[in-house]
This record gives sequence, structure tokens and C-alpha cells, in this order.
Amino acid sequence: MFTAANLLPPTTQLPPTDLFAAIQILKRELNAVILAHYYQEPDIQDVADYIGDSLGLSQQAATTPAAVIVFAGVHFMAETAKILNPGKRVLLPDLNAGCSLADSCPADAFATFKAAHPDHLVISYINCTAEIKAMSDIICTSANAVKIVRQIPLAQPIIFAPDRNLGRYVMQQTGREMLLWQGSCVVHETFSEKKLVQLQMAHPTATVIAHPECETAILRHASYIGSTTALLQYCLQSSQQSFIVATEPGIIHQMQKQAPHKQFIPAPPLNNCNCNECPFMRLNTLEKLYWTMKLGIPEITLAEPMRLAALRPIQRMLAMS
Ligand code: 13P
Ligand code: SF4
Repeated sequence: MFTAANLLPPTTQLPPTDLFAAIQILKRELNAVILAHYYQEPDIQDVADYIGDSLGLSQQAATTPAAVIVFAGVHFMAETAKILNPGKRVLLPDLNAGCSLADSCPADAFATFKAAHPDHLVISYINCTAEIKAMSDIICTSANAVKIVRQIPLAQPIIFAPDRNLGRYVMQQTGREMLLWQGSCVVHETFSEKKLVQLQMAHPTATVIAHPECETAILRHASYIGSTTALLQYCLQSSQQSFIVATEPGIIHQMQKQAPHKQFIPAPPLNNCNCNECPFMRLNTLEKLYWTMKLGIPEITLAEPMRLAALRPIQRMLAMS
């Protein structure tokens, strides 16, 4: 049975054989733009109009002239697009595409935490729900977190939520103490330091690059740390030929496409599993993308008072980056 939540196609209707062509036609009919995160499966990246990190995607969402935004990413990203575009339809191929990091910061517990530190400015990583954004003073992404924290007066105490790993990394980079909410991403905490070192020994000329959502044990082996876009740009500009990539391996599709002569090796997870692939991002498929555009569901909706409260800290981020 077809439901908006899981977007299984109706049993009576088969998807077209050429999904790429069908999606292009629907895009024109709907005046839609497809925004995709680098962690989406390669087919989705190949059909997207724009592929980017969380900052790039929110900047695109803020400025797109399209009438419909089809968001190939996770819920908080599509919700951010809706916060920025109340008059546009924002579609997400699978409503179950959540985020362990956003889930690790429930609104009621965070409200209590915030109330216990009334003198603190709240900076929240964009990987959080609209409720958390509404309780925040400024939003940041992995691309601009250091830059934003550096703009806050030194005497101002800061709560940083929800990612403890990004928070710790920002503290190291800025020399600022911050009160960290203890949330984390299941994907970026899955990498094994022991296996990473073994992989480095097997590939002694490879450069380790990592996303700041990784734990310190992984980050200390990295020659370069940055958001997904920053990691891609680093690989393209570097004279090095081989890279061990400590983030979700979806990004390797773009790395390999844009630098086919270079070697990109995914950092190994703890167990012999695919746990370095984000289970939420990977809920979206090309077929679900087609059905979303064909049927116009699932659509992201948000109560206006909540949208307005969440908009203010996002606008501050866009102005500060
Ligand atoms: P960026 O897109 O900011 O690199 O963050 C990665 C991530 O985990 C998104 O969920
Ligand atoms: Fe959330 Fe981590 Fe998946 Fe990004 S990779 S969407 S932070 S669970």
C-alpha cells in the first residue's frame, strides 16, 4: 500500500523504465529544482541540479527561483528549505529520512538545558529540528562553524549543540570554551582508528581527510578537516594523488567524477558493515524521487510561528557566513 511516509509505489502503477528522462520532464512541468546532498546515492547526484554541503544547499534554497524544491537529503535539510521558502512546495522523497544527530537533541530536554544557562548564547549546528533552531540564536554548518564562533565576543559564554564532535573541533580551532550538548552522528562515530592506521600503512602515500563530525581519535590522523564541499575542493586542488576519506562515502562519487585520475579510499568502519553509509540519506532512491515529483508528496509543512522562530537564527547564519 502506498503511503506518504514510505513512498512505496502503488502496486498498479509501474515506474517508467527511463527514470532519468521521466524526472527531467517532471522537473520542467513542475518548474522544480532538485537539490541533493553529497551523501545521496550516485544516481540521485547525477540527476540533481545542485549538489552541495548543508551550507551550500541552504544558500541555494534561499535564492532559487524555482516554484518547487525537491530535496534529496534528510528531513532537517528539507525543513530548512521550507523555513526559508514558506510560499514554495518542498518535497522530500522519504519522510523517514531523519538524522541521528538531530534525534540526539530532543526539544524538551534542550529547553531545560538552555534554561539552566540563561546567560549563554546558543549556536546550533544545522543538523537539528526546527524546534531546536527556534531555541537558538545562530545556526551554523560544518563549513562556517569556526568562522561564526570567532565573530562572538570573547566574554560571551556559548552553548554549542547538538554535535559534541564538531563542538570539540571548533573549541580546538578557536581556543574558545563552549558548553557542548552531547549529541553525535552514528555514521561519523563509526570509523575505527585502528583500521584507519592499518589502511594508512597499506597506502603510505595516501592523505587522510576527515569531516569534523568524526571523533578526535580519527581527526588527529587527518591532514585536512572540512565540510563535504571543503573536502571535495581540497582533493581537487591538492597535488596528492591518493586520499583516505573519513566521511560518508557518497561524496566519493563526486571526487571520482571530478578527479578520475586520483584514488579515493573510504575510511573503514568499526565492524565489517556498511555503517559508514548514512542509513537515513540512503532511504532516498531515484525511484522515490520520481514518485515524489509525480505525486507531489511527501511535502514538508511547518506551523508559521515555528517557522518564523527558526528563520531568525538561519538568517543570522547566512549573514555571518
Ligand atoms: P555537511 O554537509 O555540512 O558537510 O555535513 C555533513 C552531514 O553530516 C550532513 O548531514
Ligand atoms: Fe545525520 Fe550523520 Fe546522516 Fe548526516 S551523516 S544525516 S549527521 S546521521
